[in-house]
Amino acid sequence: MGQKRQMRIREFTMDDYDAVLGLWRTAGPGVHLRTSDSRTEIAKKQERDPDLFLLADEDGQLVGAVLGGWDGRRGLVYHLAVAPAHRARGIGQALMEELEHRLRAKGCLRYYMLVARDNADALTFYEHLGYERMDDIVPLARSLTDHWGSLE
Ligand SMILES: CC(C)(COP(=O)(O)OP(=O)(O)OC[C@H]1O[C@@H](n2cnc3c(N)ncnc32)[C@H](O)[C@@H]1OP(=O)(O)O)[C@@H](O)C(=O)NCCC(=O)NCCS
Repeated sequence: MGQKRQMRIREFTMDDYDAVLGLWRTAGPGVHLRTSDSRTEIAKKQERDPDLFLLADEDGQLVGAVLGGWDGRRGLVYHLAVAPAHRARGIGQALMEELEHRLRAKGCLRYYMLVARDNADALTFYEHLGYERMDDIVPLARSLTDHWGSLE
């Protein structure tokens, strides 16, 4: 008889960096890896919100990840991804629920995420979970480095 797989959610450490990058690289076009995903920049992020970068681990294998942020007013969600072979088993939802629980505990009242307009699977997933589109908002950005771009 096959053993039931045990999924647990735990916090990221820098030792997980290569595995998480590998997961993100195979997640599909919905996860855009940029300068902020380099080891140096992720280490910087870890100093600030070490408890909001969550991994889904199944019997020691990385099967999902989500990187959260909290700025004292709003929460932000980046790079939710579940390994292709492990999708549609509730792992994405479990990661979002744990992140939301942690944001709520910090006093966060509302959080955001950016989803590419053509990422139909992710939009269906988020809307299924009750997230609202903000069609009246235009996202704006300015880079504060000359080196902003895709992660090589
Ligand atoms: C989006 C993603 C994280 C969803 O993860 P997942 O583990 O497969 O999702 P779950 O199994 O937790 O799904 C939760 C619910 O959403 C539904 N759902 C998920 N993906 C869906 C899809 N593509 N179409 C329809 N429903 C979907 C599930 O059926 C489930 O509903 P149920 O509980 O009523 O059965 C995963 O597809 C992924 O990694 N995509 C690629 C990376 C990406 O684009 N990330 C988003 C970056 S903004």
